[in-house]
Amino acid sequence: MTISLIFIITLSVLLLGAVLYWELVVAEGAHLGAKAVIKMYDWTAKRYDGIKQFEPEFEAQTLGYPLSMTMVNLAYPRILDVAAGTGRLARALHAQPAFRGQLVAVDLSMDMLKAGIPTHAQPVDSLQCPAGRLPFDDNTFDVVACLEALEFMPDPLAVIEECIRVLAPGGLLLISNRRGWEAKAIVGKTWPKEALQPLLENMGLFSVDFQSWQVDYDLIWANKLRR
Ligand SMILES: C[S@@+](CC[C@H](N)C(=O)[O-])C[C@H]1O[C@@H](n2cnc3c(N)ncnc32)[C@H](O)[C@@H]1O
Repeated sequence: MTISLIFIITLSVLLLGAVLYWELVVAEGAHLGAKAVIKMYDWTAKRYDGIKQFEPEFEAQTLGYPLSMTMVNLAYPRILDVAAGTGRLARALHAQPAFRGQLVAVDLSMDMLKAGIPTHAQPVDSLQCPAGRLPFDDNTFDVVACLEALEFMPDPLAVIEECIRVLAPGGLLLISNRRGWEAKAIVGKTWPKEALQPLLENMGLFSVDFQSWQVDYDLIWANKLRR
């Protein structure tokens, strides 16, 4: 085998490794379609919480407490968590003594939903369905959340629109927006804040507020216009 052939083979293997790492590890299969993404989550479901190492204090500070405060004036709010995974939002809300309400968790990975069940302090209605086609009427929920998930969806903007559809007028949308170099690597599925803010406002949201959250995400709090 000539030196140049060895060089070409080595380079090809390295390139292939880099592409696989980018698509399977960084983008979690986002460009391979929903089936590939869900297979990966089914596969990691039982290990997911261990990998994430959620810190109850941080979850309470950034999610549970501020979210429960937005609902203090509602007698029994309905909350939908889209792509809920193992239910970190339900855990954060149920840890708030003042919280009363109905939680609905949807995810396309049944294994993720099942893995979360033993960790819930109170019942959560769980349903397997795609984020882009939610089986709920328009204007149903007081809060709709979609955390750490939009960038793995076939069409993230369509999912945001679907979340807004099922959100009641005046209700709160809580989503996360990936940032940093990894966000840029998930091509076509993430937006810089300057681009996403006007997109969200054009979808009928107001008070769109970006907050720094975790290492590689912003949290976005926004309300649906009453019209
Ligand atoms: C990184 S996890 C986030 C889970 C949870 N929201 C959290 O913050 O821990 C991404 C979740 O999105 C779900 N998911 C990915 N694509 C989906 C789709 N098209 N429809 C519904 N769920 C989807 C996965 O199954 C997974 O549970």
